[in-house]
Amino acid sequence: MSEGVVPAIRVRHLWHRYAGHDVLRDVTFDVGQGEIFGFIGPNGAGKTTTIRLMATLLEPMAGRIEIDGIDVAMDPKRVRRLIGYMPDHAGVYERITVREYLEFFADAFRVESPEVVDAVLELTDLGELQEKLVANMSKGMKQRLQLARVLLHDPKILILDEPASDLDPRARIEIRDLLLELRSLGKTIFLSSHILTELADVCTSVAILERGRVVVSGPINEIAARLGQAQAQTQAAPVVARRVKLRVLGAAANLTPLLQGAPGVLEIEFPAQQVAVVSYSGDEAWLAGMVRHLVMSGVPLVGVEPERTELERIFLEATRGDLQ
Ligand SMILES: Nc1ncnc2c1ncn2[C@@H]1O[C@H](COP(=O)(O)OP(=O)(O)OP(=O)(O)O)[C@@H](O)[C@H]1O
Ligand SMILES: [Mg+2]
Repeated sequence: MSEGVVPAIRVRHLWHRYAGHDVLRDVTFDVGQGEIFGFIGPNGAGKTTTIRLMATLLEPMAGRIEIDGIDVAMDPKRVRRLIGYMPDHAGVYERITVREYLEFFADAFRVESPEVVDAVLELTDLGELQEKLVANMSKGMKQRLQLARVLLHDPKILILDEPASDLDPRARIEIRDLLLELRSLGKTIFLSSHILTELADVCTSVAILERGRVVVSGPINEIAARLGQAQAQTQAAPVVARRVKLRVLGAAANLTPLLQGAPGVLEIEFPAQQVAVVSYSGDEAWLAGMVRHLVMSGVPLVGVEPERTELERIFLEATRGDLQ
């Protein structure tokens, strides 16, 4: 984030308790403008509580939240105009059509122009379903309708609580593509999930929440670099090694003499005849060097796939204290 730009969401030292039990404990993070920010944590970590505080539905007991520079406690009305909030497991009215549903909410949001409903139907690809009864839609389509609803007042910042939970892989990919499109329109998207891989390839930044505390937050590439540096300083072998899957034509076992004992190579496994999984300690430049070495040695290499995403590595590193 560049200096001087107001973060889309700024959360500082947030505490919240229910019935004498602290569910948020000093939660602090920033969401930069234009980011897709993943708020990740297991069930009960406090994601929904944080989101309800951001959406002005709860008042912080201590701490401060600013949305686009506006304090939610001071001016909740202005904040509500800026955000599109989609609750988890929200019901939809069933006995009306898709179009009626959106027209109803457009009225509620005092959005005058009828073109807005058309524009939102087109953006969310629901145009062909506009005369369909909401009751007869699939779960994925209902979720899409929820998203359409929060877009009606053209909010700058979307706050989505578990937008992909309960969806099949196809519906999930479609929602993900829609989020990418919304981001390209200049929106900032904050979304929560308890499933890590659901978010891995769309998020630019994350915060990982555990029992009411943020264990790590920031841009994914920065966190990954920080973890790498910490490992380099202690000169310890990484606790979570990187693993890459190599696919070759012919027998993968032929790679053994080329890789065994090479600097950085920790382990080689062969889960299938044409596949080798190499655990290594190194960065992307190291990986590029290894691939070059294999190709130059005549290996018919057809695939190089990281076995874990950067986000999964971050998660494992950041939460390992609790796992021991
Ligand atoms: N209204 C409430 N009254 C009392 N306790 C609550 C209330 N809402 C949430 N809690 C408790 O606060 C903690 C955090 O809940 P929260 O719903 O914020 O977690 P979450 O991360 O959204 O979990 P999930 O992944 O299950 O949605 C949990 O221990 C929950 O039981
Ligand atoms: Mg929740």
